[in-house]
Amino acid sequence: MSTQPLRGLWSITAPGADIVCALSAGCGTVELVVEQGGEVLHRETYPDYSTAHERSRALRAECDEKVCRLQQQPWLRTPTCVLRPWRLSDAPALPIHANNPAIGRNLRDGFPYPYTLDSALAFIAGAQALQPLCRFAIVLGGEAVGSIGFTLHPNVERVSAEVGYWLGESCWGRGITTDAVRAVTRYAITHHGLTRVYAVPYEWNTASFKVLEKAGYSCEGRMRRSAIKDGQIVDQLLYAFVVSEPGNPDAV
Ligand SMILES: CC(C)(COP(=O)(O)OP(=O)(O)OC[C@H]1O[C@@H](n2cnc3c(N)ncnc32)[C@H](O)[C@@H]1OP(=O)(O)O)[C@@H](O)C(=O)NCCC(=O)NCCS
Repeated sequence: MSTQPLRGLWSITAPGADIVCALSAGCGTVELVVEQGGEVLHRETYPDYSTAHERSRALRAECDEKVCRLQQQPWLRTPTCVLRPWRLSDAPALPIHANNPAIGRNLRDGFPYPYTLDSALAFIAGAQALQPLCRFAIVLGGEAVGSIGFTLHPNVERVSAEVGYWLGESCWGRGITTDAVRAVTRYAITHHGLTRVYAVPYEWNTASFKVLEKAGYSCEGRMRRSAIKDGQIVDQLLYAFVVSEPGNPDAV
């Protein structure tokens, strides 16, 4: 079957976007492809040009909205790294940094090992779908080298959030996560009117205790035998950053 490449229909070039839409003619059909940074977002086949063209217009409107949302999302700049919303184009970097049992053993179950490109794509799709924004890529020299995020709580605990993070091992020991935790803690408190952000590292995770202490968290106690990790019952330490005025990270 010969496929004839046809004209690009439209493109959107904006920071974090680079979306192109093109049509190609096949055997009595027309294929419509939309790519973002080389990743295929949509690939659909239509019986004729006018249907494909009409669909491409609707996709254009969806993509415009998506880019608009992306551009309204904040970037947090810290002395050592940038935190920004996840992009599909971050996927290839993720397995390089995340495929490491030394990371997963310190996190909740569900962090994959081996960590594949599919794991990365599933994670990024989930992070992008979350509203409001609460997952950030930790970016160094343009590359996503880790992840940090927070989980807001419902009902009476709506003034609290839990923070979680990991960083690729090649970047450990440079103060990067400490900067990221400081920035995300401020962001979460300010944007969501919180009084408290907390973390519950496992009893052996001295590096994480140090990160939290350097970022201004206090150890409130030991949650004895509160989790099971890799078949072992473990204690978790409860660290919290607490403010006296909701939404004011400086009211410590
Ligand atoms: C925990 C983690 C995020 C730390 O990232 P990082 O960018 O290296 O952290 P920082 O450089 O900001 O600070 C780490 C501190 O811990 C110290 N540290 C590291 N390993 C340590 C150890 N085994 N014992 C004592 N201190 C240790 C470092 O020296 C540094 O302290 P310093 O600045 O006083 O020298 C990283 O190790 C990681 O991704 N671990 C796996 C995932 C994880 O544990 N996530 C947290 C779950 S609660």
